[in-house]
Parts: sequence; C-alpha cells; structure tokens
Amino acid sequence: MITNKLQEVLNNQIKNEEHSSRIYLAMASWCETKGYEGAAEFLYAQADEEKMHMLKLIHYLNDRGGHAQMQALDAPKKEWDGLKKLFEEVLAHEEFITGEINKCYETALNEKDYNTAQFLQWYVEEQVEEESTMNSIIDKMNLAGDSKGGLLQIDMALKKMAGGGGSSSGTEEKA
Ligand code: FEO
Repeated sequence: MITNKLQEVLNNQIKNEEHSSRIYLAMASWCETKGYEGAAEFLYAQADEEKMHMLKLIHYLNDRGGHAQMQALDAPKKEWDGLKKLFEEVLAHEEFITGEINKCYETALNEKDYNTAQFLQWYVEEQVEEESTMNSIIDKMNLAGDSKGGLLQIDMALKKMAGGGGSSSGTEEKA
C-alpha cells in the first residue's frame, strides 16, 4: 500500500503529464496552422507520449492500492512568437518536469518505498532523453539562424523524428 504522501505527489505528477500532453497539443495545432507540418507531427506524437506517461502512472498508482485522480488543468497558450521560441518553451517545460520527477523520486526514497523509486527510474531516464532531444533541436535552429531553407530542413527532420516514435528512440539518428 502506497503512503498518502507518495500518493499525493504521484497524483500531482499525473496532472503534470496530462498538462504536458495538452501543452504539446496546443503547440502542435499552432504549428499546423503556420505550415510547420513536421513540427506539428512531432508535437502531436510528443502529446501522445505524455499521455502514455500519464497512463503508466495511473495504472501504477491504482495497482499499488492508491487512487489515481484526474484534476483541473489550466488552458495552454494559443500563440507563439516563432518556432524557435516554441521549442525553447518545450525545453523549459521539460526541465520543469525533470524537477517534478526528482521530487517524486525523493519522496519515494524518504517514504522508503523502493518499488516506487524503481518504477520512477524509467521517468528519470526518459527526462534525460527528452531534454537532450529538445536541446539538439534548438542547437540546429540556432545554426539555421534566420535562414528559411534551414528552418524547412529542420521541419522535415522533425517529421522523420515523429515517424520514429518521438523522443524515446535514438536521439542521434533522429536529430
Ligand atoms: Fe512526460 Fe515530457 O515528460
């Protein structure tokens, strides 16, 4: 049986993952309306991944005798000032999520719930990959600078990455 304190932080993380999914959906929709087809596909796939992260937590919490509960979410932004700024926000959001996962992990250790700490290890590793993927996308955007051709190439690369299953399958080949 999971402790109340741990249940509370895991429920908060369920909310964080659902919120991430909605933020990426809003970003994907904006990209689609601006003609960034590849970025849109990449972000739709990312939104699906976040939903998967949420579901994994829901099932774990319920399997351990807790009760996963859905919560109210703030509406995501609707507009961005360019593709690079949008991806900088994705990276900042992922850095925030890494901090939140670390809090869950610390709580699991403090509560001496080593099963949950082990379960959360997957999320710790996932965050390293997600931050690395977003950093490499931003690096490429910095290299492209104001070049429209460069941005188009990045958009095409993002389309390939989306087809490869988002951030979890080999950042090197996708970037
Ligand atoms: Fe579920 Fe992007 O962290």
